[in-house]
Amino acid sequence: MRTYLVTGGAGFIGSNYIHYMFKKYGDEIRIINLDALTYAGNLENLKEVEGRENYTFIRGDICDKDTVSSIFAQYDIDRVVHFAAESHVDRSIRNPEVFVQTNVLGTAVMLNCAKQAWELPDGSFQEGKRFLHVSTDEVYGSLEEEGEYFYETTPYDPHSPYSASKAGSDMLVKAYMDTYKFPANITNCSNNYGPYQFPEKLIPLIINNALQGKKLPVYGDGKNVRDWLYVEDHAKAIDMVQEKGRLFETYNVGGHNEKQNIEIVNIIIETLQEMLPESDPRKQLVSKELITYVEDRKGHDRRYAIAPDKIREEIGWEPETMFKEGIRLTIQWFFEHEDWMRSVTSGDYQKYYEEMYNTK
Ligand code: NAD
Ligand code: DAU
Repeated sequence: MRTYLVTGGAGFIGSNYIHYMFKKYGDEIRIINLDALTYAGNLENLKEVEGRENYTFIRGDICDKDTVSSIFAQYDIDRVVHFAAESHVDRSIRNPEVFVQTNVLGTAVMLNCAKQAWELPDGSFQEGKRFLHVSTDEVYGSLEEEGEYFYETTPYDPHSPYSASKAGSDMLVKAYMDTYKFPANITNCSNNYGPYQFPEKLIPLIINNALQGKKLPVYGDGKNVRDWLYVEDHAKAIDMVQEKGRLFETYNVGGHNEKQNIEIVNIIIETLQEMLPESDPRKQLVSKELITYVEDRKGHDRRYAIAPDKIREEIGWEPETMFKEGIRLTIQWFFEHEDWMRSVTSGDYQKYYEEMYNTK
């Protein structure tokens, strides 16, 4: 039975990945989920799997060497899938240090503990061990022109403290591969959306606010472009890279689904209006009049767009969920999980929201 160590598995993409893996492999795999349960981690995301015998949750910090090395000592880990990170750009602008701590130092600890566990006396590595570092397209910086794309060969040019810290973590993975021939891959993915996404990010924030008739904050002129991918397609790409990817390679993951932020907000409002029944009082609240242009994000990257040619040609991965379908699935999920939204937006979220959007 192959054993996976997933870091950050209680967050948005990590929990979707765990669900995807159990759906695909059932009892053929074991998953150990190491997560510190920061504000972004939520065990509710994993309720359906918590009773499985082949699933173990460990609350711990990836920066803590003793915790991480004891996991490698206790379990014969075959695969690491490293999601754990501070992930929100706006928070990184307000409080950069924790991004360096978790994203850079935490990745260094993960790499070093995996290396120690997997390395043989001659400096080579045990057969079949693989480390996948989950990274972002933001490390490539910002595109201006239509028709330009991020390739795996695009030079790094991060701008926010978040993307700089992710770039730092990618560089450490590259250094381990170059120096030790450490068996790893990096994936750089575009913006994800789907179930369990924390409502500090654009899509769940807009859905949540619109359903309550609250203002829909759009930064700057609303014309910044992101390349949106349904989260399950990302989970599938990660699995395929670990199964079929060439070691030491980077793969860009994205689906040529570029949209301006204002388009996204309009699509959400229109889809909510279509999906809500006449009898639902929230239907009267959802309106384009809620759109409010607010101060721009500092250093706001203009456009991201992934060229997914390499992963398509070498591995055969392609996104399966078109945006029209993905956004309906996402909204349906939020309709069915009102309690989840209520619980994650209580307490600290209110404070964050008031400070971030000056609504005090
Ligand atoms: P998230 O913020 O939803 O989840 C992060 C998880 O990591 C949480 O469960 C949190 O508790 C955990 N965590 C944070 N610090 C930790 C620490 N020190 N030790 C252990 N666990 C810790 O993030 P996400 O959106 O699911 O992103 C996951 C990964 O994917 C990140 O590495 C991010 O950079 C990358 N990524 C995200 C996107 C996106 O659109 N969300 C796109 C591309 C890449
Ligand atoms: O590109 C991949 C990255 O996508 C990931 O690496 C990050 O972890 C993830 O958070 C995401 O970063 P973005 O900054 O692109 O996502 P966010 O949802 O925060 O913002 C998307 C766009 O919407 C961005 O241009 C800023 C804008 N925005 C965001 C919020 C929260 C608004 O206009 N209003 C808002 O209230």
